[in-house]
Amino acid sequence: MASSKTLLVVGSGPGIGRAVTTLFASTRYTNIVLIARRAESLAQEQAAVEAASPLATVKTYGVDITDAAAVSKALDDADAAFGKPECVFYNAARVLPSAFFEHDVQEIEYDFEINVSALYLLAQRYIPHLVALARSANNKPALLVTSSALPLHPIPQLFALSLVKAAQRNLVQSLNLTYAPSGVHVGVINVAGAVSPDEPERNPTNIAAKTWEWFEEGREFEVVI
Ligand SMILES: NC(=O)c1ccc[n+]([C@@H]2O[C@H](COP(=O)([O-])OP(=O)(O)OC[C@H]3O[C@@H](n4cnc5c(N)ncnc54)[C@H](OP(=O)(O)O)[C@@H]3O)[C@@H](O)[C@H]2O)c1
Repeated sequence: MASSKTLLVVGSGPGIGRAVTTLFASTRYTNIVLIARRAESLAQEQAAVEAASPLATVKTYGVDITDAAAVSKALDDADAAFGKPECVFYNAARVLPSAFFEHDVQEIEYDFEINVSALYLLAQRYIPHLVALARSANNKPALLVTSSALPLHPIPQLFALSLVKAAQRNLVQSLNLTYAPSGVHVGVINVAGAVSPDEPERNPTNIAAKTWEWFEEGREFEVVI
């Protein structure tokens, strides 16, 4: 098992996911675990990390984060290869329109599973390890979750994502209140608007830079970008 630091990314994709992962990989982590549903796009994400950080070792798992059995199997494999992560970056979500009342309730439940239930299971798996890591000053144990303005400012055309993001933020706040005193950085990256490479502030590169700055500085609950 390698002794170098591991970053686990849930929701690896070409936008915020890639920008944060490549920056974090080039600054602190040499073992990178990427999870997303589509194996073909994971190959691109792996290539992007390897290009940005030639010393990184990357493992990818094409699983749906809501498939608890498949996720558990994948993470057992990753943990055995790399050791448990020092940083969990939870970025998975579907930015999908949801119109009243055409939107199927099962779609709301799936979004809840992606954003809340699966995050809860991941926290259950790794928070005890992160608390243990916090006992050494050399470590920077963290659970960082990509959020948005939707919890406080829902968009009716995105009501399903809005409500699950509200629940997710609430869960992360409870985790923060419980585990931040033990030295675990539990917080949200509040991307307060649409992301695009053309946005002066909310482009993936700047979001990643601001996220790293916030993460490096201390253990504040939130960064707003
Ligand atoms: N895009 C925006 O305008 C925006 C604005 C504010 C906040 N955010 C937040 O930013 C985060 C995403 O960033 P992004 O939009 O730039 O996307 P991204 O980082 O490019 O990719 C996120 C990846 O998550 C994966 N994913 C989705 N559902 C999943 C599931 N059930 N299991 C495993 N992986 C899953 C998707 O890959 P697969 O399809 O292969 O699974 C997707 O490529 C989300 O939390 C979102 O709420 C986005």
